[in-house]
Amino acid sequence: MKKITVKTSKTYDIIIGAGILDEAGSFIKQTVGGQTAAIITDDNVSVLYEKRLADTLAKNGYHVVRYVFPHGESSKNTETFLSILNFFAQEKLSRSDIVVALGGGVTGDLAGFAAACYMRGIRFIQIPTTLLAAVDSSVGGKTAVNLNAGKNLVGAFYQPCAVICDISLLSTLSEESFRDGCAEIIKYGVIADRVLFESLKTPILSRSDINSNLENIIARCVEIKRDIVAEDEFENGARKLLNLGHTVGHAIELLSEYRVFHGYAVAMGMAIVTRAAVRMGMCNNDCLTDVIQMLRLYNLPINTDFGAEILASACLSDKKRDGGEITMIFPTEISKCILKKIPVTELETVIKLGLEEV
Ligand SMILES: NC(=O)c1ccc[n+]([C@@H]2O[C@H](COP(=O)([O-])OP(=O)(O)OC[C@H]3O[C@@H](n4cnc5c(N)ncnc54)[C@H](O)[C@@H]3O)[C@@H](O)[C@H]2O)c1
Repeated sequence: MKKITVKTSKTYDIIIGAGILDEAGSFIKQTVGGQTAAIITDDNVSVLYEKRLADTLAKNGYHVVRYVFPHGESSKNTETFLSILNFFAQEKLSRSDIVVALGGGVTGDLAGFAAACYMRGIRFIQIPTTLLAAVDSSVGGKTAVNLNAGKNLVGAFYQPCAVICDISLLSTLSEESFRDGCAEIIKYGVIADRVLFESLKTPILSRSDINSNLENIIARCVEIKRDIVAEDEFENGARKLLNLGHTVGHAIELLSEYRVFHGYAVAMGMAIVTRAAVRMGMCNNDCLTDVIQMLRLYNLPINTDFGAEILASACLSDKKRDGGEITMIFPTEISKCILKKIPVTELETVIKLGLEEV
């Protein structure tokens, strides 16, 4: 088992290990306390793991209540968010109680934002159950819901009190969902760690191989994110690096009406910005070859059918726009990326460069 401490406006521990879900109640009682625990989860995860969580919480003295919503990105909206807040009020949750998000990034983002808003902030714990949530969304305190106009347009920076990552829960993920998380792991290698990047080549991470190698890789990704978030919790600078592939990725998610999953969209976004970086003279061909080969190795997409014009227009509804400019992240080599402000008038041209094969 590994413990990683995050030092932001709130200091909290992330524990990573196999089979630790059944000990979650005792860990939460010791570190967070509280009387009522409100489990927020989706209908898939509820069937698989909710009872085990409820049992360990009850065993440790919690009064357990639960809210289950239909799985998928289409639930990450203001209706579900309001419904969760009403559920908290109905259950008379107070600020001494706790919210436990059990699920993937959709659950963590929704439950975290509801926890941030209810009574101006009630403590919450993340228990990630997807690879993507384990390496990315459960860490760092970004919470949000989508509006029709764009992804994550309403949200808050609100850190959890603890993250409990039981890697054995990942064994029930679909192959597609597992690979979705691999895209974010590859992203960490491209942003910050060549050794991590190289280690992904062999053995290839696999859902049927939940072992110490996977645990080490998850822990390394969490450390990278921890360091970046500790330096720039509110995304004024360095934290933007974590958005590699996300500006175009979010546009693809939006245009596909969320049929393309987040990690797959980020994979396409990474391929597009890396090609553009080569064309713009910021990155060499070897780096592009490495990125494309790695995405292919994990059966992740490297192209989109959406054209530059429609992608650029969808990018502009993304919150990363800053007046007349948009900050994009470009790799210069594996483990190094730069932030570059692109005038919105040039965005379509940049994306076009990324869509063309070099
Ligand atoms: N807050 C952040 O910093 C951050 C970072 C990256 C992504 N995100 C957000 O995360 C979301 C994507 O997260 P996600 O891919 O985890 O999506 P998700 O939560 O929708 O989970 C994907 C699917 O896997 C199912 N599932 C979850 N755990 C399972 C398990 N152990 N076994 C079987 N099935 C399981 C879910 O029911 C769902 O159908 C997006 O909304 C994205 O914007 C947030």
